Amino acid sequence: MDMKSFALKGNILYSSTPKELVCIPQGYLICEEGKVEGVYEILPERFSTIHCIDYQDSLIIPGLIDLHTHAPQYAIRSLGMDMELLKWLEYNTFPEEAKYSDPEYARKAYSIFAQDMKKSATTRACIFGTIHVEGTGILMDLLEETGLICKVGKVNMNRNCPKVLCEESEQSLKDTKVWLETSRIKYKNIKPIITPRFLPSCTEDLLTELSVICRQEELPVQSHLSENLLEIAFVKELFPSTAGYADAYNEYGLFGGSVPTIMAHCIYLTEDEIELTKKNEVFIAHCPDSNMNLSSGIAPIRKYLNHDLKMGLGSDVAAGDSLSIFKMMVETVKVSKLLWRLQDQSMTPLSIEEAFYLGTKGGGKFFGKVGSFEAGYEFDAIVIDDTSLEHPQPLTLKQRLERVIYLSDDRNLVGKFVAGNRII
Ligand code: GUN
Ligand code: FE
Repeated sequence: MDMKSFALKGNILYSSTPKELVCIPQGYLICEEGKVEGVYEILPERFSTIHCIDYQDSLIIPGLIDLHTHAPQYAIRSLGMDMELLKWLEYNTFPEEAKYSDPEYARKAYSIFAQDMKKSATTRACIFGTIHVEGTGILMDLLEETGLICKVGKVNMNRNCPKVLCEESEQSLKDTKVWLETSRIKYKNIKPIITPRFLPSCTEDLLTELSVICRQEELPVQSHLSENLLEIAFVKELFPSTAGYADAYNEYGLFGGSVPTIMAHCIYLTEDEIELTKKNEVFIAHCPDSNMNLSSGIAPIRKYLNHDLKMGLGSDVAAGDSLSIFKMMVETVKVSKLLWRLQDQSMTPLSIEEAFYLGTKGGGKFFGKVGSFEAGYEFDAIVIDDTSLEHPQPLTLKQRLERVIYLSDDRNLVGKFVAGNRII
């Protein structure tokens, strides 16, 4: 269904700010040309003839945003969760990613990933592929068919990895350019994003050249920052002359400013790094599920919210074991409580409104005006039928949303719209 203008009727909820949830019972959400025209308690006269889908007592909320995940790792989610980052990469992740040199394996695995993404509450995502040009192309083809809007990266890595995944610098750049040539123009909804894996996997010359490509072709970048203590120590060894992890990215021109940037994790940022992150408007992808599974630590999200940093949530499969951004919202709240209780009493736990904001409007900002129902926002909406989540007592709309975040799964999703196009 590709309609220009239509209305959805139901119980409408969205974030205006991190602390404020707007609730409109039995309201009308108007889509015009793929954008939100407005939300109304009573349908205005001028829309009296508009096509209206009546979702009755269901909840209508913005589509969820996954700022960080790894498509090739979906096949190994929930397996081998008994190592920290560097060992986990060596023993679990790299051997799996090496398989994507085979287009047949890539198609099989990526079909499962793309279909599960489509069935989820997520409408937009930033996704890592592997180093392989053909495999990453297959991933982009399959995602384009779903109707989701995604940024997908061919991974660059030229050191500290097994031979089969270790690119020569020149080949890495050549492959990146070949991949960009087709993927820049081939798709309506899927766009490339430059993806140096993380500092331990990239030499200085590769980072510098990737930054040139970002600037020349006006492309964003995604990577990992400050996830694990051994990783951070390794970066110090590899880049002895720079002040720190974020500074090294910055020195090579891959840390925000004119290059829109997402950095996953950011658990152990120093005060200087927080300032740089803010100044350069770098987005943090908070990945609590991953951070627990790899015993990485707890990112101080309260502190980052106080600093007004740009931030959203990431599933980070397969370090995260689930694609569900609802689950990431719950875990955002839970890990914030542990941090407050165990480590720092100034870090008050996050509220469910704040977690919901991060998974919608906070992450959506990386895609532009996305993740809310204010006028002019892109029309990403999902419809949740919560009747299967039975309860004996009366509940407010906000309480119903809380239960949806904690208790719902893909079976409760009865409608999904991405930039005005209905895909479920
Ligand atoms: N750092 C570098 N690569 C990865 C990865 O694949 N997953 C996670 N969680 N961290 C990384
Ligand atoms: Fe990751």
